[in-house]
Amino acid sequence: MTAPIDPTSTAAWAELTALSDPFTPDLRGWFAADPERAERMSLPLADLHVDLSKNLVTDEILAALVRLAEQTGVADRYAAMLAGEHINTTEDRAVLHTALRRPAGTTPALVVDGQEVDADVQSVLDALSAFADRVRSGEWRGVTGKKVTHVVNIGIGGSDLGPVMVYEALKPYADAGIEARFVSNIDPTDIAQKTADLDPETTLFIVASKTFTTLETLTNARLARDWLWQRLAEAGVDTSTDEARNDAVAHHFVAVSTALDRVAEFGIDPANAFGFWDWVGGRYSVDSAIGLSLAIALGPEVFRRLLAGFHAVDEHVRTTPLAQNVPVLMGLLNVWYVNFLGAQSHAVLPYAQQLSRFAAYLQQLTMESNGKSVRWDGTPVTTDTGEVFWGEPGTNGQHAFYQLIHQGTRLIPADFIAFVNPAYPLADDGRDVHGLFLANFLAQTKALAFGKTAAEVEAEGTTGALVAARTFPGNRPTTSIFAEALTPEVLGQLIALYEHITFTQGTIWGINSFDQWGVELGKQLALQIAPAIEGDEAAIEAQDASTQALLRYYLARRT
Ligand code: F6P
Repeated sequence: MTAPIDPTSTAAWAELTALSDPFTPDLRGWFAADPERAERMSLPLADLHVDLSKNLVTDEILAALVRLAEQTGVADRYAAMLAGEHINTTEDRAVLHTALRRPAGTTPALVVDGQEVDADVQSVLDALSAFADRVRSGEWRGVTGKKVTHVVNIGIGGSDLGPVMVYEALKPYADAGIEARFVSNIDPTDIAQKTADLDPETTLFIVASKTFTTLETLTNARLARDWLWQRLAEAGVDTSTDEARNDAVAHHFVAVSTALDRVAEFGIDPANAFGFWDWVGGRYSVDSAIGLSLAIALGPEVFRRLLAGFHAVDEHVRTTPLAQNVPVLMGLLNVWYVNFLGAQSHAVLPYAQQLSRFAAYLQQLTMESNGKSVRWDGTPVTTDTGEVFWGEPGTNGQHAFYQLIHQGTRLIPADFIAFVNPAYPLADDGRDVHGLFLANFLAQTKALAFGKTAAEVEAEGTTGALVAARTFPGNRPTTSIFAEALTPEVLGQLIALYEHITFTQGTIWGINSFDQWGVELGKQLALQIAPAIEGDEAAIEAQDASTQALLRYYLARRT
């Protein structure tokens, strides 16, 4: 294991410390003095146009940040990841989500730990595509011979957030009359509401779980199986024998997992299960067989286009010098804001309703990856690490939390994501609604960067205390990510962009961005508390005073 390089010990860190203290950002002045700034700081990333110019950096700061990436070994660690080294040290695993999107026939073929990675990836992709085609064409039928109209993905975390986000984003591509739904929460409301109006004869459940041990997913899978049997019986289908029930499961349940033995134990035919591998982290798995619901609802071709988008960004990261490497630069900017300017959160604001679940997806990707206090060798981190990622699509956010970004006391760097052409071109009284939408995107990034001075407020006739209230300080940093349209390729590029931003930050901080031990304690305690919630007095008394009081509150009132 290569020891992490302490970023605070590098010469670049010292330079950045000097550049940040004192630091007086001046986007108005910088733009006025440098007519080339926007052009120079706008970089292409596959089909994305990424404008970094409204960030709080000078060329000198950017150059020092690039030196920080050099001195902390970002390029070497990326190469180690691509080569299949076990950079996930705490689980002793390779990290190869990038292999999921290598095109068929890439040479030299990737062989890691004796596994022919490329061949395995292509074989699952082919099986997944063939199955998706069978469901889409109606060749695959339910137990009563009807075509599937609904797929319900049962999964949580990485086995849910990626598929649901991509489905919402690419829904305009759904062309086979099949709707996808996503059940994740163990709150029974979730499955009850998502299945309420479904016809069991035309519903296909996908149980998606990397480990096939996750409490929420297995509980929901059993609830779904009971629902299937019960609703089929209500429809007059025989479910009275084990054989009949198994037959129903065989026609209405498939699975995606790395643990195909556990899939079989659940009663799903391994012939109807799609595998992936321990070197794909849950939050990096939307491009694995975990995307089965997408291949069915949107089509295998759309799924492959998504993968091609990911791969284009992987290639950019692999082949582009650090100073022009967009994901690396965006990761470095985040380090600048977190470690030198004190930012604690980062907003992601898509001007696209189709990306309504993008921030939720990114929360797992970024925060489960980099929300850590120890480094990959077990020693404490030497700086602040993972910031809080959050966001909502514009313009909804404008009418909710933008006030704080514009005039609050906190520094909140924000990424704006927008598309030139809409999925639904509509006009309001002859006026292009999407154009109006995009005018808001441009207005917000402009207002955040350049603000409005007291003199400008006064020039509009405002006087007294209202002048301060109406003044906008500006110098609120944003990155604008623009693309022609939200195609499958572009979505793959966006996801890969954030994967590599996360990786860059994690590497600089010395973090293993691919484990998630922080979720374990709560899982263990929930299992311990489960008997107490059933009223087991000994289990109640084993709890701390606060937990006991909450349990007694619950037990006294449950109906
Ligand atoms: O919450 C922890 C976690 O392990 C995530 O990393 C993962 O995406 C999720 O649970 C679901 O896990 P699985 O796919 O194994 O059911």
